[in-house]
Amino acid sequence: MLLSNYKILTVTHKKTNLKEIADFVIKANDDDALRLKLDSIKAQFHIDELLYLPTCNRVMYLFTTAQEVDERFISHFFQSVNPSLPIEAMNEIENYVQYYEGANAIEHLQHVAASLDSLVIGERQILRQLRESYEQCQKWGTTGDNIRLAFQQSLVAAKAVYSHTRIGDKPISIVSLAIQKMLNAQVPKDARILLVGAGQTNQLVSKFLIKHEYTNVTVFNRSLNKAEKIAKSLNGQARPLEQLSEYKGGFDCMVVCTGATEPIITTALYKKLIQEDDNQKVIIDLAIPHNVAHDVIAQFNVEYIEIEGLRNLAKANLAFREQEVERAKKLLVDFINEFPSLLKQRQLELAMRSVPSEIKAIKAKAMNEVFSKEMSSLDDNSRELVEKMLTYMEKKCISIPMKAAREAVLG
Ligand SMILES: NC(=O)c1ccc[n+]([C@@H]2O[C@H](COP(=O)([O-])OP(=O)(O)OC[C@H]3O[C@@H](n4cnc5c(N)ncnc54)[C@H](OP(=O)(O)O)[C@@H]3O)[C@@H](O)[C@H]2O)c1
Repeated sequence: MLLSNYKILTVTHKKTNLKEIADFVIKANDDDALRLKLDSIKAQFHIDELLYLPTCNRVMYLFTTAQEVDERFISHFFQSVNPSLPIEAMNEIENYVQYYEGANAIEHLQHVAASLDSLVIGERQILRQLRESYEQCQKWGTTGDNIRLAFQQSLVAAKAVYSHTRIGDKPISIVSLAIQKMLNAQVPKDARILLVGAGQTNQLVSKFLIKHEYTNVTVFNRSLNKAEKIAKSLNGQARPLEQLSEYKGGFDCMVVCTGATEPIITTALYKKLIQEDDNQKVIIDLAIPHNVAHDVIAQFNVEYIEIEGLRNLAKANLAFREQEVERAKKLLVDFINEFPSLLKQRQLELAMRSVPSEIKAIKAKAMNEVFSKEMSSLDDNSRELVEKMLTYMEKKCISIPMKAAREAVLG
């Protein structure tokens, strides 16, 4: 495995409008469908290992392959990810997709993990998202030893950044910025709030709602138990998502954030929710792809808060942290430089894995077959001495090549 076999294809907030990232994610209704798609991409593009990371400000495909990744590969790759990729994206794919290879891929991964590449620099959610994506891909067998190595080192590097710089001081996140906008919109404390989705993001939203003393919250989620947990902390109601279209309680503000890859707040559903109410509603949609259909925003009286609109607030946050970003990048240089020898060391370990058992087998064969007659003619003391000497030799025979090879790798 060569360092240059590490490759990353990614679409991030740096190059595109966040809404457009949705065109580059895998649209899958459930985990089984996602897993099948990842397997088929691996097979189609001769990829050995593949890690898929979709977040609210990027989608990243980290993979290993000896294949050359050129413009043709990239176009085919994203055509396979999304067969209905818009033609303009297809024709100008280089305006959307960033490609990294070898040491650059390792550097990018570490910058992502340390949240240096995030829309909100210093937010730690990315580390959790990266870890969860890795665990899922590892469980499914789409990743292997080489991505494990890169992933684990990126975790260590990110932790070093968080603990040796002030990048994470005054914690801030997409959620906290969205709540700031919600407060700016002067949503009253007794407003009827619907939370749609009960994942990590809406859990965080609920903490802010408690902090800002919102008192009238109803939580809808596909799995009711998660909705109940959040509703309990808010003294609110919990309902299954499938009942949302029948909900007659009305609302003033809705926070929608699920992993669905198609809009769940459609025009038809929205009409049923508002009934005759034509007062302005505040809708916070933090999902990528968005969970609220474009037509809802276009047709109804809505103040729409979504991640793209948080860019300016995020920039203000960056100004505060710019110095820390530079410190963090310097700190990461050592980790990035260390990676090639980690990779070689691992390859050596794998190559040498069979050495101890092979030498043990030689010792056993010498004693039990080749010299068995001579051994049986020895008295107990002599036999014990021969065995001791062979055990000593066995240990040396294992450690000498290991040590020599390690020195050759590490220099
Ligand atoms: N985490 C962050 O920091 C962050 C910040 C901003 C935006 N976002 C974005 O927010 C979205 C959710 O992220 P998360 O981290 O909160 O995810 P999460 O913890 O994995 O939770 C996913 C939530 O979405 C629901 N869900 C998943 N697929 C669904 C489907 N097909 N139909 C209906 N509900 C579905 C899940 O319901 P069950 O409980 O039934 O599984 C769960 O409530 C993503 O688009 C993400 O990019 C995340």
